[in-house]
Amino acid sequence: MKILVGITGGIAAYRGAELARTLTKRGHVVRCCLTEAGSRFITPLTLASLTGQPCFGANPEYHEWRPNPIIEHVDLARWADVVAVAPATADIMGKTANGLANDLLSTLLLATTAPVLWAPAMNKAMWAHPAVQANVARLKGFGHTVVEPAEGMLACGEEGAGRLAEVADIADAVETLAGPAHPALAGRAILITAGPTQEDLDPVRTLTNRSSGAMGIELARAFRNAGARVSLVLGGDLPAPWGVPTVRVRSAQQMLEACQALWPDQDGLVAAAAVADQRPQTCAQEKVKKGLGPETLVLVRTPDVLSTLSANRGRDQWLLGFAAESEAHVPNATAKLHMKHLDGILVNDIRGGKGFGLQANVLIPITTSGQAESLGPLPKDQLAQAVVRWWGDWLGGKGK
Ligand code: CTP
Repeated sequence: MKILVGITGGIAAYRGAELARTLTKRGHVVRCCLTEAGSRFITPLTLASLTGQPCFGANPEYHEWRPNPIIEHVDLARWADVVAVAPATADIMGKTANGLANDLLSTLLLATTAPVLWAPAMNKAMWAHPAVQANVARLKGFGHTVVEPAEGMLACGEEGAGRLAEVADIADAVETLAGPAHPALAGRAILITAGPTQEDLDPVRTLTNRSSGAMGIELARAFRNAGARVSLVLGGDLPAPWGVPTVRVRSAQQMLEACQALWPDQDGLVAAAAVADQRPQTCAQEKVKKGLGPETLVLVRTPDVLSTLSANRGRDQWLLGFAAESEAHVPNATAKLHMKHLDGILVNDIRGGKGFGLQANVLIPITTSGQAESLGPLPKDQLAQAVVRWWGDWLGGKGK
């Protein structure tokens, strides 16, 4: 994806550079456009070095770049699949909201037909000012996206709303805007379960598993980027992805209840959670003390979230499960596919701790029509994109 990052004059300009770097690392071609005020906080050389691309705007060193001598603002405006301004000052938003343009960034913002995203950063009183809020509302009215500033300690020493949003969230928002959408998934409501569940023994002890939830979160991002309306029910401690309504849960029972509330309005379910199959029979009110004799823990079964939703499926709802297997992978997963009445299942080989943590992973897709070609080995973000492509194509082919 070709992304133009506009950087304007504020102390958060260095985080605009971090955004350019993050997007470059995620495999996009990133070009920066620096305003005159921005260039007082950060240099064109920094941005060109981080992106491997020329930097435009207030950048005498790189101004010689001209692909077929043309009109620079129009050419850049056409080049970009998405334009993201981070940090965005009150000034640049005010200009664009009112059709003013007197430098490269403000002219290309009027010339572009690509999606535009704003990540504002300023003093909290400036952000709250009715003039700024009116401009933000106007920009949203043009169809632009605004990644709202976060609350926190501002550079001016005040506390409040005005801090630039997290760089990873802005990068997510950029990727969401530029798709590409999958025709079988765009606009569809998809529920995703992710993460471990935790079954408490007492106020301090819990039974859980080694899942972090990273794969489910990457799937939520990838389905969202393909245009789906994703809802996430998430166990564990990882931060929720940007733009995905998320219900946080601890136990299998809580996960089931959260999913049941959402399920009637969904087109499909992706069950990536590592749900605990057992919980302690009782959860003590107070911390349990050491005993004298042999200590036993009585376990009882938790509800199966996927099977319960499958048993309550509507005619057009589909279900995609995961199977964590350490042996007889395909036969075991195929048995789960049939037992839980799923449309598809992805087999995860968990022998020797594989499938957990950060390393590249492989998934074998199986549907009611049989085993398909393996996906991976790929890091989790790319593997999630491969799953989304495979599943979108399969749904498209089935006409669901
Ligand atoms: N699953 C679920 N609720 C449970 C257990 C599993 O929703 N209580 C879902 C998982 O999210 C996954 C699928 O069912 O999509 C298979 O999970 P897995 O742990 O591989 O298998 P189990 O059904 O638990 O069977 P077993 O532990 O016997 O392999």
